[in-house]
Amino acid sequence: MWDLLDPDPGGRPGWPLHAGPLRVRAGVVTLRPVRRRDGRTWSAMRMADRSHLEPWEPTTEGSWRRTNSRAAWAAVHGSHRRAIRAGVSLPAVIELDGEYCGQLTLGGISRGPLCSGWIGYWVGSRFTGGGVATAAVALGLDHALGPVRLHRVDATVRPENAASRVVLDRCGFREEGLLRRYLHVDGAWRDHLLVARTREEHGRGAVAALVASGFAERV
Ligand code: ACO
Repeated sequence: MWDLLDPDPGGRPGWPLHAGPLRVRAGVVTLRPVRRRDGRTWSAMRMADRSHLEPWEPTTEGSWRRTNSRAAWAAVHGSHRRAIRAGVSLPAVIELDGEYCGQLTLGGISRGPLCSGWIGYWVGSRFTGGGVATAAVALGLDHALGPVRLHRVDATVRPENAASRVVLDRCGFREEGLLRRYLHVDGAWRDHLLVARTREEHGRGAVAALVASGFAERV
């Protein structure tokens, strides 16, 4: 039974995260591993996009300026690397036509009878509204329930985050309930919707569904 649940005990199936390409309205979306040299772009984009990102992201210790500064990247990237080595997280850069435009993380990965993880993401404001996040989440979800061999992927989203709810819905996530005062975000404990998808309900996958609906095209 344990072989069935975790066919590669101690291994890290699905590492590193490379997925796509997938064409949507905005252009061609791919996922690739985060690199040390992404720091400059990461910081510039997040500094410029504070008002776009802060209402939805978990509170961190320290000011936005400090935690998203160029100097903070070494620690952020170091924690990515530790989590990758431990097999608990797969952080990825979302690229649009080869350009860094945001990040997606498969995190909280656990094996054994839980065999699950969560997905989270952000896209820089100048790249939004063209299907980028939908493509990225579909690619990430298929990777998680495919090569990473998870049984379940969940996500939490503030009910007010209309754009993100559209993304999750289009990728086939099913709503499971409301988590009251679940996470500290933007100055207060905020309710979050819990959504999930398991392998049994994933069929031919999220990318295949986007392609079948005409939302995306394989390239
Ligand atoms: N009401 C209804 N629909 C909306 C609204 C709104 N206020 N705003 C946007 N939408 C729609 C868009 O029109 C689009 O639908 P369409 O394809 O029919 O036009 C859809 O929501 C968004 O889909 P995408 O274009 O694939 O998403 P995008 O690339 O714009 O990225 C995202 C969306 C990730 C939410 C981006 O705005 C962002 O990074 N926001 C800040 C950070 C954030 O919220 N991250 C997600 C946190 S929740 C989580 O990680 C599980």
